[in-house]
Amino acid sequence: MRVALGVSGGVAAYKAAELVRKLQQEGLDVQVIMTESAREFITPLTFAALTGQKVITEMFGGEAHSSANVESAIEHIAVAQRIDLLAVAPATANTIAKMARGVADDFLTTLYLATTAPVVVAPAMNVNMWEHAATQENVETLRARGVHVVPPEEGYLACGMTGAGRLASVDAIAAAVMGRLGIAHDLQEETIIVTAGPTCEDIDPVRFLTNRSSGKMGYALAQAAVRRGAEVILISGPTRLDPPQGVQFVSVRNTEQMHRAVLAHFPRATALIMAAAVADYRPVALQTKKMKRVSGRLNLELEPTVDILADAARGKGDRVLIGFAAETENVAEHARGKLESKQADLIVANDVTAEGAGFDHDTNVITLYSRDGSEKAFPRMPKIDAAHRILDQLRALRQATGQAAAAERAR
Ligand code: CTP
Repeated sequence: MRVALGVSGGVAAYKAAELVRKLQQEGLDVQVIMTESAREFITPLTFAALTGQKVITEMFGGEAHSSANVESAIEHIAVAQRIDLLAVAPATANTIAKMARGVADDFLTTLYLATTAPVVVAPAMNVNMWEHAATQENVETLRARGVHVVPPEEGYLACGMTGAGRLASVDAIAAAVMGRLGIAHDLQEETIIVTAGPTCEDIDPVRFLTNRSSGKMGYALAQAAVRRGAEVILISGPTRLDPPQGVQFVSVRNTEQMHRAVLAHFPRATALIMAAAVADYRPVALQTKKMKRVSGRLNLELEPTVDILADAARGKGDRVLIGFAAETENVAEHARGKLESKQADLIVANDVTAEGAGFDHDTNVITLYSRDGSEKAFPRMPKIDAAHRILDQLRALRQATGQAAAAERAR
């Protein structure tokens, strides 16, 4: 989701840098817009470096502007249409007044008029300016229009006075933004272990057995769960992906290490999602020296690895266990079989031969099979959206187990 962050002039402008970071951690794409006076307090370079995007500072593209530069002349409309939310933090008395009156004399205030996206405003100013009837009236006007105002905090102000006027905490502003975007922190109570990627079973110092898992589905689940407020432990086999921000990352190589890592974190977890493509077999013996070519056939003896999901299910308690079934045929039959054999609460099945599904794709086509016999099929969607649908189900299952446990206690 895309958020435009308007920074207006005030000592608190530096805190907007921290807010950018926080919003990025929540998985949001942030476009910063600075008013002229904001640039007296902090340079656009800081925000450009944080966001990796050009910071918008001028209504008409600044020096680069020429009469032929139609693109920059209508940029506010393009940004207005592109964003899912406009946040203004810190918002000065002057910017609030302009927004309340519909004055559009710079990019930020013009964007406010041009966008239909929800707006969050976090004021910061001197206590007398905040309490002034003009400011209070303007804030009320914005509120009546549906703008979400995150009130300033009481405290010691940069001007030397004490009172209300200090910019609300970065956490409070970010929570307001997430709330308005409809990204609820509905998994705040959960500690979720997500496994991802392949496991590699070494044959000798240069060779190993593995599979085509990219880790994308597991990493998307970890990112989505963090965004919804869960504490996430991501246990990953080797992948080319960067761990999402905010997860506790545990890097493993083989099935045995993944098993140990899952068991180590399992006692404090409320859910386990086994998205990893775990090797089912490993070489009986690991050769310490590189194996040499032999004449004729070579037999490699393999032994089964531990079934991590089935093993975790034995000490399950009221945890929710979710497994994956990547199949090439008879998807429903195999998925239901795995529900039973692994004692999982939910199996996420996908036909890896279907278009836009499976290994290394950014999209997936999933069907969720539950123990109560129900199944939910979803159309092809980005893996991050599929992750949210799986987490919706996790939440429902956790509520159901919580209710069942409460009913049990009441008996
Ligand atoms: N799994 C596991 N430990 C293993 C193998 C698989 O925990 N040693 C988990 C996977 O992470 C996945 C689920 O079990 O969530 C199903 O994995 P899959 O490989 O499809 O199932 P298998 O039981 O190995 O069956 P098969 O390979 O024969 O389809």
